[in-house]
Amino acid sequence: MQQENRDGFSSRFGVVAAAAGSAIGLGNIWRFPYVLGENGGGAFFLLYMVFILFLGVPLMLTEMSIGRAGQRNTYGSFRKLAPKSKWYLIGIMGVVGAYMILSFYSAVAGWTLQYLYDAIANNFYGKDPQALDQMFGAFTSGSFMPVVWTLVFLFLTGLVVVAGVEKGIEKYTKILMPLLFLIIIVLDIRAITLDGASEGLKFLFYPDFSKLTSKVVLEALGQAFFSLSLGMGTIITYGSYIDKKEKLFSSAASVSLADTAIAVLAGVAIFPAVFAFGIEPDSGPGLVFITLPNVFQQMTGGYFFSILFFFLLVIAALTSSISLLEVIVAYFAEELNMSRVKATIIGFTSVGILGVMCALSFGPLKSVTIGKFTLFNLFDYLSSNILLPVGGMLIVFFAGWIWSRKSVAQEVLGEGKPETSLFKLFMFIIKFIAPFAIALVFLNAIGLLKF
Ligand code: TRP
Repeated sequence: MQQENRDGFSSRFGVVAAAAGSAIGLGNIWRFPYVLGENGGGAFFLLYMVFILFLGVPLMLTEMSIGRAGQRNTYGSFRKLAPKSKWYLIGIMGVVGAYMILSFYSAVAGWTLQYLYDAIANNFYGKDPQALDQMFGAFTSGSFMPVVWTLVFLFLTGLVVVAGVEKGIEKYTKILMPLLFLIIIVLDIRAITLDGASEGLKFLFYPDFSKLTSKVVLEALGQAFFSLSLGMGTIITYGSYIDKKEKLFSSAASVSLADTAIAVLAGVAIFPAVFAFGIEPDSGPGLVFITLPNVFQQMTGGYFFSILFFFLLVIAALTSSISLLEVIVAYFAEELNMSRVKATIIGFTSVGILGVMCALSFGPLKSVTIGKFTLFNLFDYLSSNILLPVGGMLIVFFAGWIWSRKSVAQEVLGEGKPETSLFKLFMFIIKFIAPFAIALVFLNAIGLLKF
């Protein structure tokens, strides 16, 4: 079926830019520091890097290959590559995952819109760390503005998704992501020259293995997948737009590298400041919002930089949320035969309801909990620590054991090319290492296996 969204990317840089646009987002700048802070720092960081390199990059390559071979949304791609089997269930899991992630993601993106507004209105000016902390708490526990911003953000996401891949997604990411990179480097320079910065760098980079528990290991894996947009078919969906001529190896490597660089640079901007200003590293989802306004206060031109930073953060969030909504919309449009507009409206409305409930999880719905989780925490935790690892495991297992080696080679290397040693290593990882490593981490953390 030739849909509007099957138009494909126009250039090599476009593919990498769009996949990087999906990967780089709140996951790097908001989630990475807060989850690292809650999981003890350096040891988490080390594991995160190991998981990116040995599981993330191969999984990204796998997802790109499946999408490009399938030429469909996640569900449709599995249907095509493995007809008469149940592998399409991965696609259904992906749609469920997209719902969960997009709901809490929109709530946090709503906070960034408020902070963009605050930056423009110069509302951080003259506030000390306590006052900035209170400001965050007062805003997020409200019952009106967080809801409005969540819906505004989702609406923007819907607008771009309706416009389609090439016009909407590709054009802006190409310019704005490099700009984000630059501004974080400026923030880094300010942060590491703060008094007491070294304590923060030590927290981030020095591995204290006594902090390593099975929960930390799973959280590092979940964060690696979350940050790279893996495990639920986003990259499969984007892979289906990649031109047959593109070399997937280098695309997967560049996207992973860019994403990891932004996360590390964000960590370097945040942790020195966390320690310099006496903020608790395990403050949770508010960490970045409380920390960075302090850094802006200490900068020449802080007013200008704060506006630029929150603007770019909104854009980074948008290029990621687009990719999440695209998973839902491509499924509705291609499999349930809806028009793209109708699919987007249904997606917007249904995610909107959940998103509003997530946005209210810090205020009116704070006491509505399932286990010890509010809806926000539940979606955040479940998606990264269960859905993505399980999805990722099934995807590599599929490519390693079910899909034929010849077809994998054809996607990864090109028609009729002989196997290279890098390809052999890749096959070895997705066949023998990745599925079992993910399963071990997962079973160990939920307590079914004990080391
Ligand atoms: N990776 C994005 C980020 O870091 C979020 C995201 C987009 C995502 N698509 C995804 C996460 C698919 C998991 C799965 O902000």
